[in-house]
Amino acid sequence: MRIIRTRDYKELSSAAADVIASQIIAKPDSVLGLATGTSPIGIYDELAERYDKGELDFGWVKSVNLDEYMGLSADNENSYRHFMNTHLFDRINIDKVNTHIPDGMTKDPAKEAASYDRMIQSLGGIDLQLLGIGRNGHIGFNEPSDHFEKCTHEVRLTESTIEANSRLFKSLSDVPTHAITMGIGAIMMARRILLIASGPDKAGILKEALFGNITPKVPASILQLHPDLIVVGDKEALPDVGSDDTYLRFTEKTA
Ligand code: GLP
Repeated sequence: MRIIRTRDYKELSSAAADVIASQIIAKPDSVLGLATGTSPIGIYDELAERYDKGELDFGWVKSVNLDEYMGLSADNENSYRHFMNTHLFDRINIDKVNTHIPDGMTKDPAKEAASYDRMIQSLGGIDLQLLGIGRNGHIGFNEPSDHFEKCTHEVRLTESTIEANSRLFKSLSDVPTHAITMGIGAIMMARRILLIASGPDKAGILKEALFGNITPKVPASILQLHPDLIVVGDKEALPDVGSDDTYLRFTEKTA
């Protein structure tokens, strides 16, 4: 595990964008696993800026997103498809045909889930997976459970996730109760993983995930077993990690 601690959210976004940019430069036809939530917004702004400056070409890039709410269509402003189009895809030269997000309007979630996994396989798997972390340790929408769910699946969201995500909806009752999410299998099969976290609200759960027991009660804890995990967090999310932690590669961004 490599940890990069930045001074603030702006530096976090830039450091994480560096990781994604270097992946695209090294392999222009990379398969990027992408995430939603507020944490990646600054990274997507950075990537769009670098595209504008001619530093990045997304013409060959393919993407697979982690998850989607059930019952929200692509034109619903709370859907993750809408989020990705607005924050990233409409601002860069990625071919939308190469961007994949589970279909939240499916009448057959099990079939959609199976075909999503087949699609990821047919792309050759994920080169770099970007992840945020939920307040309860979820990744994608893999909620705390008594086992790690391997494949893409429909999930009932926990009360705490519904409550946390309600800030982006008009009211609590507008938040969908179900979602479809990539499983832990495809995430862990990604060749590289980039986990980001910002702000004091994430400090406790991030510490538990990175240094606590590996348990499906904290889904992100399984990332400790990944051979190429980069964590980028700001000071508020990583208050007590330091250079004395000899078992990890630690970089402090100071200037
Ligand atoms: C949602 C998404 C996750 C994301 C999480 C945290 O639940 N499904 O992929 O990591 O929110 O979001 P935020 O970055 O807004 O804290």
